Amino acid sequence: MAKARIAVIGAGLMGHGIAQVFALAGHDVTIYDAARAGLDTVKDRIRTNLKDLGDDQNAANRVTPVAELANAVGDADYVVEAVLEDLPLKQKLFGEIEQHVRPDTILASNTSVIPITDIMKGLKRRERALGTHWWNPPFLVPLVEVIETEWTTPEAVAFTMKLHADAGKKPAHVKKDVPGFIGNRLQHALWREAIALVENGICDAETVDAVIKAAFGRRLAVLGPLENADMVGTDLTLAIHKTVLPDIDSRPAPSPYLEKLVKDGKLGFKSGEGFRKWTPEQQQALRARVLQHLKTARAGDA
Ligand SMILES: NC(=O)c1ccc[n+]([C@@H]2O[C@H](COP(=O)([O-])OP(=O)(O)OC[C@H]3O[C@@H](n4cnc5c(N)ncnc54)[C@H](O)[C@@H]3O)[C@@H](O)[C@H]2O)c1
Repeated sequence: MAKARIAVIGAGLMGHGIAQVFALAGHDVTIYDAARAGLDTVKDRIRTNLKDLGDDQNAANRVTPVAELANAVGDADYVVEAVLEDLPLKQKLFGEIEQHVRPDTILASNTSVIPITDIMKGLKRRERALGTHWWNPPFLVPLVEVIETEWTTPEAVAFTMKLHADAGKKPAHVKKDVPGFIGNRLQHALWREAIALVENGICDAETVDAVIKAAFGRRLAVLGPLENADMVGTDLTLAIHKTVLPDIDSRPAPSPYLEKLVKDGKLGFKSGEGFRKWTPEQQQALRARVLQHLKTARAGDA
């Protein structure tokens, strides 16, 4: 894809990583954040990531921090927003952005779960708006879900899919704006049953995680569930579902077990205990393990 002018709004965890990916792909990137500290540190944070990954550190020179929203987006072909997960904030921001961009500039939100329709419904030109759901860290996890609303044009979707594919990401087209898009619906269907297994005394939390990591988790990166179903046979899958599905948790609300953990202040890493107890050393070791795994996978992709 020809060099594009990208504006990233929000220079936090996701925003700086998204800016990094686009800059490394050769695009000119402006980045805006309401907090001065976020802007002042963003190039250093990107340079540190690039160095750590062995990527071209000159890419950081294509990122320009801009202190005024109007200046950050004025020339942009494509704007992606990664500010706090707050619907009124995002709605207000896109209303402001729309006053400063060209009529054909594509506008994307990196919301985790807020419907794109709700964020974009107040825009004058809703047809150029969509969602792009990146995963953390943006420069290590390949997937970007590209979510269209009932108003989004096929051209806006096609441009966004190509922009991300050409930047080395794996874009997935989400054709309807449903809560959780694709990835988080699948992930949280699994988490619901994981919690239910513990809640019902079938095993402890450590065992749930061990079973996944030692069994189908090993295959998941190369064998999706529907490939797997075809591999074993849809007839066998049907037979398994007839036996297992009636027993799998299907409650349409969070588990009372999870509600109680939160009520008791067992918030996970941040309080030292959630489903399990975590020392600071164990937390650090797990974070380092995940990061190393993602780096190894990325090296394997190259
Ligand atoms: N963290 C993740 O794993 C993850 C994954 C996918 C999507 N997301 C989504 O991405 C978005 C950003 O998440 P994050 O983890 O980067 O958050 P973050 O807190 O690290 O960064 C948010 C940034 O937005 C800035 N900000 C706040 N109000 C602003 C405004 N009015 N204008 C400009 N900047 C403003 C803050 O100063 C901060 O730098 C959220 O919508 C989140 O749900 C996060």
